[in-house]
Amino acid sequence: MKAMILGRNGQLGWALERRLHGRPDLIALGRAELDLADAGAVAAAVESARPQVVFNAAAYTAVDRAETDRDAAFAVNARAPEALAAACARVGAILVHYSTDYVFDGSKAGRWVETDPTGPLSVYGESKLAGEQALAASPCASVVLRTSWVYGDHGANFAKTMLRLATERDALRVVSDQHGTPTWAGRLAEVSESIARQALQSGDAVGWLGERRGIHHASAAGETTWTEYARCVLSVAQDLPPWAGRLKVLGAQVEPIPSSAYPVPARRPQNSLLDCGRLARTFGCAMPDWRGDVEAYVRRLAAA
Ligand SMILES: NC(=O)c1ccc[n+]([C@@H]2O[C@H](COP(=O)([O-])OP(=O)(O)OC[C@H]3O[C@@H](n4cnc5c(N)ncnc54)[C@H](OP(=O)(O)O)[C@@H]3O)[C@@H](O)[C@H]2O)c1
Repeated sequence: MKAMILGRNGQLGWALERRLHGRPDLIALGRAELDLADAGAVAAAVESARPQVVFNAAAYTAVDRAETDRDAAFAVNARAPEALAAACARVGAILVHYSTDYVFDGSKAGRWVETDPTGPLSVYGESKLAGEQALAASPCASVVLRTSWVYGDHGANFAKTMLRLATERDALRVVSDQHGTPTWAGRLAEVSESIARQALQSGDAVGWLGERRGIHHASAAGETTWTEYARCVLSVAQDLPPWAGRLKVLGAQVEPIPSSAYPVPARRPQNSLLDCGRLARTFGCAMPDWRGDVEAYVRRLAAA
């Protein structure tokens, strides 16, 4: 697999690089090597490397900052994927791209399926949706994995923030009216590799993925809220060094609050639950329940 990873220093890019480590011809690029705001440079990088598969883990992910930085968000999340897809089509590479539950408005009662109408509440969501649409309009053989609440071994995320705050503050109040599942970046990397491997093993990667192209939901199974997620993280941590005896807030003490009590610039969907049936049917990839991966993650952080 001659693979190219974009966004190597992000949570998912880092996980992808670990997952594909040791493969000959692996090209992993961070912002310093390739600025996705420069669409011409994106195309040139693909055309000179001529990979078989590109994993685009780079994105403008500062959800609140995007509200006042619309152009930068659209450059990275919409125009770069468009240029990337065009270049992949030219060199015959397949493309694995990522999107977000924030393309939805959160109003559905059940789990969102891929064909549900989108309605982003934020500039970030709009820019990621524009990226999805650019790929749909391109002849490139691409798959878009829509995921939610990503946390990785490398990089900042909600779980690490909760662990830090629980050692600093006497109380933790966390939003309880947004529903979704935290998804481990390592799990997404595993699914991404599986899809690429299946495509390449078919002998006609472009044709094979072309028949299966489009959006697939890919988030952990189960259901939770930010409050329950925080409780899970702290409940595991409170029995482990280096946190045992140091946490001022224990898992059971996390207090639920409504989103209205935690004002932020960008609105978030209340229901982010994704139905991942299409991913299982198309690629045979099933994501496990969120809780086991979060517990293992906290134990790994403790061991590190
Ligand atoms: N994080 C979540 O909760 C979440 C939820 C749903 C979907 N997703 C999607 O999942 C994918 C992976 O997210 P993640 O959590 O791994 O994101 P992340 O940790 O924020 O990583 C994104 C990476 O993109 C890079 N990047 C940003 N602007 C760039 C530019 N102009 N040129 C080159 N690189 C640039 C960043 O570089 P620097 O390191 O230099 O900043 C960073 O390494 C994204 O498509 C995201 O939209 C994420």
